[in-house]
Amino acid sequence: MSDLHEALRDDVRILGESLGRTMEAHLGSPFLARVEHIRKLAKSARLAEDASQEPLRQALDDLDENEVLPTARAFTQFLNLANIAEEHHRVRRHLQTAGDEDAEQLDQLFAELKASGLSPEAVLECVQNLSIDLVLTAHPTEVNRRTLIQKYDAIAATLKQRDRGEPVQSRLDQLISQIWHTNEIRQHRPTPVEEAKWGFAVIENSLWTALPQYLRLLDKRMQSELGVGLPLTCSPIHFSSWMGGDRDGNPNVTAAVTSEVLLLARWMAADLYARDVDQLRGELSMYAANAELRHLTDSHPEPYRELLGRLRSRLLETRNGIEAYLKGTPTDPERWISDLDEILVPLQVCHRSLIESGMSCIASGALEDLLRRIACFGLTLVRVDVRQNADRHAEVFDALTDFYQLGHYSDWEEERKQAFLLQELQSRRPLLPHNWQPDANVAEVINTCRVIAANPEYSLGSYVISMASQPSDVLAVNLLLQEVGVEHNMRVVPLFETLDDLDNAPGCIGALLAIDWYRTYVDGHQEVMIGYSDSSKDAGQLAAAWGQYRAQAALTELCEREGVRLTLFHGRGGTVGRGGGPSHTAILAQPPGSVGGSLRVTEQGEMIRFKFGIPEIAVRNLTLYTTAVLKATLTPGPEPDAAWRELMDSMAHCGMKIYRSLVREEPQFVPYFRALTPEQELAKLPLGSRPAKRKADGGVESLRAIPWIFAWTQTRLMLPAWLGSGAALKMAVEDEQLTLLHEMYRDWPFFQSWIDMLEMVLAKSDVNICSYYERRLVSAELRVLGSSLRSRLQQAVEQVKAIKQESRLLAGNGVIRQSIEVRNPYIDPLHVLQAELLFRDRNQPDQRLEQALMVTMAGISAGMRNTG
Ligand code: PGA
Repeated sequence: MSDLHEALRDDVRILGESLGRTMEAHLGSPFLARVEHIRKLAKSARLAEDASQEPLRQALDDLDENEVLPTARAFTQFLNLANIAEEHHRVRRHLQTAGDEDAEQLDQLFAELKASGLSPEAVLECVQNLSIDLVLTAHPTEVNRRTLIQKYDAIAATLKQRDRGEPVQSRLDQLISQIWHTNEIRQHRPTPVEEAKWGFAVIENSLWTALPQYLRLLDKRMQSELGVGLPLTCSPIHFSSWMGGDRDGNPNVTAAVTSEVLLLARWMAADLYARDVDQLRGELSMYAANAELRHLTDSHPEPYRELLGRLRSRLLETRNGIEAYLKGTPTDPERWISDLDEILVPLQVCHRSLIESGMSCIASGALEDLLRRIACFGLTLVRVDVRQNADRHAEVFDALTDFYQLGHYSDWEEERKQAFLLQELQSRRPLLPHNWQPDANVAEVINTCRVIAANPEYSLGSYVISMASQPSDVLAVNLLLQEVGVEHNMRVVPLFETLDDLDNAPGCIGALLAIDWYRTYVDGHQEVMIGYSDSSKDAGQLAAAWGQYRAQAALTELCEREGVRLTLFHGRGGTVGRGGGPSHTAILAQPPGSVGGSLRVTEQGEMIRFKFGIPEIAVRNLTLYTTAVLKATLTPGPEPDAAWRELMDSMAHCGMKIYRSLVREEPQFVPYFRALTPEQELAKLPLGSRPAKRKADGGVESLRAIPWIFAWTQTRLMLPAWLGSGAALKMAVEDEQLTLLHEMYRDWPFFQSWIDMLEMVLAKSDVNICSYYERRLVSAELRVLGSSLRSRLQQAVEQVKAIKQESRLLAGNGVIRQSIEVRNPYIDPLHVLQAELLFRDRNQPDQRLEQALMVTMAGISAGMRNTG
């Protein structure tokens, strides 16, 4: 272990030195010396616990205008290089244990399940029916440009070579120099199609390799522990995507974009399969074959190659056909492969023939990998979800009821809306008027539904309705889909994302399930999406977390009573304020019974890269998902005690009151937020295709959850993740509930993970840095609020320490603590520069300074390892 740490330090050192040489070659030794001087000052200020950091500030103040940008870049790039070294370190550990950790994790779980009295058949049945759907989204939280990510990946690959003793210095120098001379800030926002291509690239570059490795491992462990393997047609994990399908508040995602992305997914799948089949053709040169294969190939001397050659031609015909279609060339879509069996069957024929001809060892190689890929990726790699805001559907019905002079739909009571929608759902007459010319917004919603109608069911996932609250929100989408002729019963999924809506979710779903028409439509399966970040923004993290828990528990109970299978779809982000945290812990912290073998969860922005960007790490995360879902399904934890629930109710109420009284009612709050944080400036950072606000002219209420959290993170106040929690915990302690809190922490996975996540955020907060921003940027009259917020932050820290019975935060988690401490000397100069640049930019905007400001934002994000 200590050797491994030594190796990590060594990597960081050689990367840092190479960066130093690059900077020296470009800007000269005095510049490098200044950067080094600044780093040392930051480090000694930390060591001396010098909150004023005066010498550091002075040194940064003394920088020449021309040096500000390169200095910001130096620290930013160093943090990026440190991240690469850390990631590589994890890969190295994985390689050194030859993936044993993953195997051990599975073995341990199977042993636990057996010990709990479950038969191997019961476990096997559960594995075969698992449905874990990881939904890749284009949430704008990835700061790094794709071109830089590719260079970072290349550095990681070079570090791997270095571990094998190969000479790599000059390659590393080249890569680091390429990075230094490349602009780290995108010049333009990516388009939604570019975002979707990025998602496909993650599949191509990492998951394509990782998936068969993961399934192979699962198969082997099942064979050894349960005596039965995993069928080649079974994959517990699938992927879906919001890239190019999520149009909620993003006018750039149009019907045409979704249509293109749906085709690109099929194109990409055909291309990847064609490449695999081609390679397999090279390998399967054998002549011995069974009767079936001989018959199919007219006794060809190389029967495998012959059959695979035909398959390859069909795949290429499909790929080229889609490509031509996308370019506008007339082509016949009927000729494209649209039945998975067309790919699967010939490969299964080869597989059977190899086994029957005594070549099992060949059958179990690349051919089985390909069969396993097909089981997971199907004809489209991902199924694309569509997401739209409930208001946009209501607008369509407003236009329709106006047109028919029935009144204004939005003004109707819920009952009337439902009656109208149900009547239309059961009517034989079309509702959409012939030759109707609605306004552009309405037309866009309808055109999107038409795209759904025009595409095969296997291309599509769910239709998610954001800000859903009432049964009519769901029925409205059912009706729109029916009107445009969607033939399959697409899953229409309400996303409950305010505290009130979470509280009403069981009532809403209960009312829907009481409708005969709806019951027939859903056919025994209901999907519900839980919104983590917006509910936190609405009610504070504590009340939201408890609201999410209660809603899930009540929905589970309702669906059980109704005999309906429930899939919960978790809209989690990367950071704690957005429901982030280790997935394994999060799944096990869900209410007992709520997992039930199926789970959908969003994987967003930079988290996609962290969790799935490197095959070794991806295998690990796929295994973690599998074990957590299996465990939560087969051995759900105990129901929480009534006393725990009661205490949570009162703490959540207290937390919400405090949070809302400040965020919504305190007149100085918004001005303070705007002055202290780079919220306004952030909107200029071209992170993703969607705007930072739902409404262009809206205030903080229309600001999306991601920039809201991103802004607080940049100043290290981290307010959304803790505001209200400290006061609520304090109230409980003053009420003599500390013993009960200790018991909850020890025995209740939900509470334990909530406290642990809170602790992690608090450990990343920093009152000194925050007060520096305040002194530089906030007017005197707003500072009283700032100091009260900081004392609330301290209060939260004290309460968490009391519950965890530790004298300092993260006392039991040295790895995270160390990782934060090592980064601080590199992040601190970026904070000081950012505050200064914000000050100057607000007084006298200057493009050059703006560029440096954006670099500080990117650097702080890299240092904090999460963005929004
Ligand atoms: P949303 O997601 O704004 O797209 O609903 C928020 C988040 O992921 O934090």
